[in-house]
Amino acid sequence: MTHVLGLDLANPVVVGSGLLTDQERNIRRLLDTGAGAVVTKTIHPSPPTGLDERILRLPTGMINSTTYSKRSVGHWLGILRSLASDGLPVIASVHADTPAELAELAVQVEATGCRALELGISCLNEEAGLDDSAERVTSYTEAVRAATRLPFSVKLAGGEGLNARAFAAARAGADAVTVSDTLPAAVVDPETGELELGGVFGYSGPGIKPLVLASLWNLRRAGFPLPVLATGGVQSGRDVHDYLRLGAVVAQVYSALHTDMHATLARIVAETDAPSAPGARARLTEEVGS
Ligand SMILES: Cc1cc2nc3c(=O)[nH]c(=O)nc-3n(C[C@H](O)[C@H](O)[C@H](O)COP(=O)(O)O)c2cc1C
Repeated sequence: MTHVLGLDLANPVVVGSGLLTDQERNIRRLLDTGAGAVVTKTIHPSPPTGLDERILRLPTGMINSTTYSKRSVGHWLGILRSLASDGLPVIASVHADTPAELAELAVQVEATGCRALELGISCLNEEAGLDDSAERVTSYTEAVRAATRLPFSVKLAGGEGLNARAFAAARAGADAVTVSDTLPAAVVDPETGELELGGVFGYSGPGIKPLVLASLWNLRRAGFPLPVLATGGVQSGRDVHDYLRLGAVVAQVYSALHTDMHATLARIVAETDAPSAPGARARLTEEVGS
């Protein structure tokens, strides 16, 4: 049993927020397949419209220009009520244009019986990008803490200033942090010389795992006091165990599930339960000739 955000999970493999968790049917199937919990796609009262939201696959992961769920808050409240009435371990990911609006949304979600939140405040794919700061994290976290008693994690992107932002979340009343959201990245189109997708967007998948491990290590070394939900590049039970060994309470998996969603999730959960399985023990070092 793993305990996080007031939930008792059967295992520490949590499906992270994304397109695959934008539908009730998928959320239920991911839980049936063995996920310890599922985080919904980020619910937003006024998601941006007119953006070109796409995914580009790379050898080391993917870049996506997506933002928030296009389903209305009312629609999501119905879904969350239905999932809560079955006692399912679902974490609602929420964001809004202002701290006050996010606090209001948190109250609405609490009323559905949903038992935990993740503040999805760190998406870098909005038109203006994300210029995050400890002050911004403090305002969102304080507003939600003042409005609800639900346990919540604040999702942050790794990179510069992460420790300051994470400590700001802790001081402002968060129960946990989730690290990392996607990281800024770009790909050049060889035909045109322009950036693919038209700019810098969110990078995820195996390429970011060493960076997220380093972030986790740095947080722990600085004495960060809260549980960390690790997310970035999980593809196997070994990846889950790497995060747990560095002190994460759970590991979220997302991009890997864009290939054979259920089979991949079932394999990762099985490898996590049996850490001596091959995927759990891949050798990482190479000898360098002297
Ligand atoms: C297509 C796509 C959509 C995503 N949508 C969201 C989202 O709505 N909210 C959020 O907090 N994170 C979102 N993420 C980020 C993932 O939850 C996760 O933090 C990130 O991809 C790193 O984990 P991974 O390498 O296992 O994918 C999205 C990622 C991808 C690839």
